[in-house]
Amino acid sequence: MIKKGIFGTINDKEVEFFLLKNKSSIEAKIISYGAALVSLKTPDKNGKLADIVLGYDGLEGYLNDTCYHGCTVGRVANRISNAKFMLDGKEYKLTANNGSNHLHGGNIGFNRVLWEARPFEEKDCCGVIFKYQSSDGQEGYPGNLDITVTYTLTNDNELKIDYNAVTDKKTVINLTNHSYFNLAGHDSGDIYSHQIQINSESITETDADLTPTGKIIPVKNTPYDFTKLKPMGRDINKLDMGYDINYILKKSSPMELSFAAKVCESQSGRVMEILTSEPAIQFYTGNFLNGSAGKNGASYKKHNAFCLETQHYPDSPNHPEFPSVVLNPGDVYRHLTVHKFSVK
Ligand code: BGC
Repeated sequence: MIKKGIFGTINDKEVEFFLLKNKSSIEAKIISYGAALVSLKTPDKNGKLADIVLGYDGLEGYLNDTCYHGCTVGRVANRISNAKFMLDGKEYKLTANNGSNHLHGGNIGFNRVLWEARPFEEKDCCGVIFKYQSSDGQEGYPGNLDITVTYTLTNDNELKIDYNAVTDKKTVINLTNHSYFNLAGHDSGDIYSHQIQINSESITETDADLTPTGKIIPVKNTPYDFTKLKPMGRDINKLDMGYDINYILKKSSPMELSFAAKVCESQSGRVMEILTSEPAIQFYTGNFLNGSAGKNGASYKKHNAFCLETQHYPDSPNHPEFPSVVLNPGDVYRHLTVHKFSVK
């Protein structure tokens, strides 16, 4: 079932919201600004609903947001070192919006634009198709890029995000969703007791500015080891800020939709599993949340949420040894991520 309405206006243009509901009373609310997931209510083990993603009550919050709450991130998610890269012998300079680096698509990334939206309803699911054209040269990237992001809520308690894109010039692309989760509820404090398993045995090592050194290091015997379910808080204090790292997913073939991560919160009994076609996942424990105001009077502090951003490795345009993020005209960029919800 879908309900739609107006979330706010920007430059006299309406920002729409879409409220998707399924048979088990899961509710996902998505807006056309940033193609962002602004609320996600799922039942706990007693059937009580709670909103498990952080965000803002109104459009104002999203217009002023610096945390990337719930949004679609692109053209290239994560950091690009020194805000530049080479493609076919030509250097492309991007907006530097994170020190000297480029982060999450620059100043006007896909989180800061209005998407065209079309809702759909089928027998066992409903959803919204968002479309946006990013123009040649936007934030420094080459090529006009036509992007489609489809959110689908199924009666199997899955929230799927499906990304597609085509370009008219050789370019680079790496899209993701930046939802901050707290399975106890968006305003429930720290995530230390959440247990997480990540289907990965190695990470891309980063420098102090969080860009990859190029080295792939095993997680075994390090605080990064989540090969088996482990509380997020067990080793977090062994790290400077918390987790903010790219895990390389175990796959039997590239692009296959396979298990990426599982998170369990025992008080509520909520479980979230993530499957993805992408080769990697960024695990980020909200290290830069600074007490800013969120929905319903909540204040979001450091480690009050986690993000699991399915994507290609950070700074791939500058690392030819990483799986390629290059998109050629005539080819189609595809990425599917599935969030599956249950209780235990
Ligand atoms: C990155 C963090 C960054 C955050 C911004 C995450 O995807 O890994 O380093 O600060 O996004 O909200």
